[in-house]
Amino acid sequence: MLTLGIETSCDDTAAAVVEEGSHILSSVVQSQDELHSSFGGVVPEMASRRHLEVIDNVVARALEGAGARMVDIDLIAVTAGPGLVGSLLVGLSYAKGLHFATGIPLVPVDHIEGHLMTLDLAGGTPLPSVALVSSGGHTTLYHLAASGPPAILGTTLDDAAGEALDKAAKMLGLGYPGGPALERAASGGNERALSLPRPLSGTETLDFSFSGLKTALFTYLKREGYLDRTREGRNLPLTVSDLAASYQAAVVDSLVEKCFLAVGKLEASDLLVVGGVARNTLLRSRMSRAAEEAGVRVHFPPPALCTDNAAMIAALGHRRRSSAAGEALELDAYSTKSMKTRHALAGGQWT
Ligand code: KG4
Ligand code: ZN
Repeated sequence: MLTLGIETSCDDTAAAVVEEGSHILSSVVQSQDELHSSFGGVVPEMASRRHLEVIDNVVARALEGAGARMVDIDLIAVTAGPGLVGSLLVGLSYAKGLHFATGIPLVPVDHIEGHLMTLDLAGGTPLPSVALVSSGGHTTLYHLAASGPPAILGTTLDDAAGEALDKAAKMLGLGYPGGPALERAASGGNERALSLPRPLSGTETLDFSFSGLKTALFTYLKREGYLDRTREGRNLPLTVSDLAASYQAAVVDSLVEKCFLAVGKLEASDLLVVGGVARNTLLRSRMSRAAEEAGVRVHFPPPALCTDNAAMIAALGHRRRSSAAGEALELDAYSTKSMKTRHALAGGQWT
């Protein structure tokens, strides 16, 4: 069974063909980084226009890469939300058009659930488990039971970890997207150079908070004259590399601490770490070390499947195939909704 996945929730236009929900035949991700970089973040209107320009070609490349034609596809899976509504509507409308023209069943899926089930594409999703989704818009811990929908254990009270990294990178003049830029800048830096808070550390909550950390960096940069252009590079106490390393370590430490607090509380044996921030090398190594100490297994998708892609959407669509929408042309996009509502929208079945 071949599933064509389509993903346009933010600033990547992606399409993929996945066999039996687990084997990637092709995965095309056309990034818009270059388009948005001079603005230091995604400009929604520009993002949706670019999706519209390239989606046809991205889908054609995915089919070609898989050696398939549209008639070979058994199911179309598309991200319905959460995300930027203008961007989502491009993928959703395109998928509806394909469904209308070909009669191939169409299943709407949830982007965050897509991240959660990414390991379907890398040897299988271990259940039961604790899972951290850490991306640009979400930092949430879930309990994935052997059956039934994911249960939220904790979530960020303010910024997402990826957002905190992106904002710090912007403050440090490192460009966009911030997470990878900050990671590059941090290499060789001294993470103990600047003492930064680990918000909610040492408490029993499974929630996260990153806005205090961001403010601490901003306050330091302002006080020491980093934001004063006339002083740029002159007599500044710490290098950008030291600052990036200190900040990255604070974000990583916060994520690791809460993950293992959850693992301990639930007596879980498996921890999944997914979403764009899971590409981070320091995060991967600290999670792995903590897992070894705790005697649990930690699982990461391959780096290319951590950031947004359509293969995870196709894999989830395959799981949800029995809920292929009867009234697919009525489907609507959603920017935010609770996981419960989103789950019900996606057919309500957790398989
Ligand atoms: O999952 P994703 O591609 O998109 C969303 O659903 O948001 O995640 C994007 C986030 C951005 O905040 C980006 O800065 C972060 O993932 N990211 C990283 C790295 N690569 C991407 N953060 C830290 N280190 C990385 N290497
Ligand atoms: Zn994402």
